[in-house]
Amino acid sequence: MNAPNEKAIAAAQDYADSRQISVDFLSPLGFGSDGMVWPTSCGSALKILYRNQNYKMERDCYLRLRDAGVKQVAHLAVPRLVDFDDGLLAIEIEIVQPPYLLDFGKVYLDAPPPYWDDAHLMANFL
Ligand SMILES: Nc1ncnc2c1ncn2[C@@H]1O[C@H](COP(=O)(O)OP(=O)(O)O)[C@@H](O)[C@H]1O
Ligand SMILES: [Mg+2]
Repeated sequence: MNAPNEKAIAAAQDYADSRQISVDFLSPLGFGSDGMVWPTSCGSALKILYRNQNYKMERDCYLRLRDAGVKQVAHLAVPRLVDFDDGLLAIEIEIVQPPYLLDFGKVYLDAPPPYWDDAHLMANFL
């Protein structure tokens, strides 16, 4: 197990202890480039992010989606934010079944992304 993963597991344990819940480390929901996700004893998903920038973007997206009462986008389920912890880079959300829309760690909010004016890069999206 590498250092970021060990750190994420320790953060998940700290989060669980602070909320008096437990994390099922033996049945992960998934691992991605930004973090690790496990189910908890309250039926939620706990995601620990590796980097603060990705954490902040994802947290802010879930806060906005919760404030707006968004439960799905088109036919895609959007998990409701349950709780979060800035110190542990922890985001607790509902477990959703596919098809779903999650993983907001690389979004840009309120301002266009820095590559918006790069014609060459934008052409690659088409
Ligand atoms: N709320 C959730 N409900 C169900 N599965 C989830 C949930 N959150 C994450 N997962 C699973 O974990 C995987 C990794 O989560 P994701 O948010 O995409 O991480 P990363 O940002 O590291 O790519 C997802 O592809 C999905 O399979
Ligand atoms: Mg992902």
